[in-house]
Amino acid sequence: MVVSATEYASRIGVDVLQAGGNAVDAAIATGFALAVTHPAAGNIGGGGFMVIRFPDGSVTAFDYREKAPLAANPRMFLDEDGEYSSRIHHNSHKAVGVPGTVAGFVKAHESYGTGDWSRLVEPSVRLARDGFAVMPGLARSLQYALARMEPYPASIAAFSKDGEPYQVGEILRQPELASTLERIMLQGHDGFYKGETARLIAAEMQRGGGLITEEDLAIYRARERTPITGSYRGYDVISMPPPSSGGTILVEMLNILEGFDLASMGHNSSAYIHHVTEAMRRAYLDRARFLADPAYADVPVERLTSKDYAAELRRSIEPHRATPSNPLDIELPHESPHTTHYSVVDAAGMAVAVTYTLEAGYGSKIVVPGAGFLLNNEMGDFNPQQGLTDSLGHIGSEPNLARPGQRMLSSMTPTILAKEGELVAVVGSPGGRTIINSVLQVVLNIIDFEMPIQDAVNASRLHHAWLPNTVRVEQGGIDEATKQALQEMGHRMIVRGRQGLTHCIMIDPLTGERIGAADPRDTDAVAVGY
Ligand code: GLY
Repeated sequence: MVVSATEYASRIGVDVLQAGGNAVDAAIATGFALAVTHPAAGNIGGGGFMVIRFPDGSVTAFDYREKAPLAANPRMFLDEDGEYSSRIHHNSHKAVGVPGTVAGFVKAHESYGTGDWSRLVEPSVRLARDGFAVMPGLARSLQYALARMEPYPASIAAFSKDGEPYQVGEILRQPELASTLERIMLQGHDGFYKGETARLIAAEMQRGGGLITEEDLAIYRARERTPITGSYRGYDVISMPPPSSGGTILVEMLNILEGFDLASMGHNSSAYIHHVTEAMRRAYLDRARFLADPAYADVPVERLTSKDYAAELRRSIEPHRATPSNPLDIELPHESPHTTHYSVVDAAGMAVAVTYTLEAGYGSKIVVPGAGFLLNNEMGDFNPQQGLTDSLGHIGSEPNLARPGQRMLSSMTPTILAKEGELVAVVGSPGGRTIINSVLQVVLNIIDFEMPIQDAVNASRLHHAWLPNTVRVEQGGIDEATKQALQEMGHRMIVRGRQGLTHCIMIDPLTGERIGAADPRDTDAVAVGY
């Protein structure tokens, strides 16, 4: 079973499984196909994380998060007057981190894949070269993106018909991307990080005032890491360690919530939302204080994920009153929904959770001329400037500042659940800082409310991140009486659009059947099994 943001990508993953590949092989093939068919977030110019659970219950993870280039420094997002510039931080060539996806896929394949590398890339070479019919969601999102790609002619050329947006059903061909994928197919890691592709990236950086050089690309390495493991009401929770904050904060919240009887409160009742919000508030404060690339900061993961620490935090939660957040009543920047998550389970029970990203939708909007792929704007996930915590909600804490070679802090939370040695589910989501909360709520829906996986995915979600001190609920998610009860407890309620796109798989405990659940918030997403 493969569940991803496009049917093309899910089918390519399943083709690999049917041809005898394992879940890691399928995840890699799916990832390349998303780089072709889901350009908003699928990528070879970004980075991400892969969490794996093997049929024997052992686990591992791959970190192919982007890195700051060697010329980076914590003051690099300031303009010539020494003022913080959101444009430099998020919308410029300096916003581009050294991409990691291709290195991660190659390393995962070398470690745990089977058979020939080229068969995982070849379907995507073909898809890019021959083209595919544009889906409704892609047509809508390309229309939005084109307006923002105006400064970059290579981007307009790649994603429009001479400036005109593609309509549903028209064929999108990406010949330059096909050639880049072909180099990756033939040369593996070096097909991206050396030679023609590296030269084209470095040339575009130089042209636009970016920092990435051929040396930055040549020294990039993906890392295999030990996942975060926690437990929740007898289930094992396996998720991504730093440089993602995801697994640590997820386990911290679950540990806090384990001490409350959420099921008896009722799903999305005022009591439930209050307790979940208070757990989120405490964990996200820790995220802002402590989480960063562990090579550059001493992250107290063991304490943050311990049951004792959770008990301490739980004692500070009052049953009917919201705790104030920091007195700075500030709005954090918009959370980009344009990461993507996909889930794979093979016939032997190997499970793979992948979340990868360009950061914003279509990343930096910069297509590398001659190479046909989009570059990320992941440097935006570094804190903007030391000490800068202002009315726009920037966090200025020390650990997550841009330093040469540092990986920027992520919220991506690819997660696997197991119980008594058996695989239960694969879960994940896009959505910036909302990711961890979306994953949390799918997990609670599965475990506390025993929902079938599609209901667990569909159910309305909420978000609180310490700051801003607001509970954001999806449109139609709660009724007026619940909202009023929460306001009376002191919560500031905000209604928002959709939160997260959780493409999940659950295993039927009786039959072993893999049940795929594409998130209906994502119109192009499809679960494919065989
Ligand atoms: N850029 C989204 C994340 O890594 O959390």
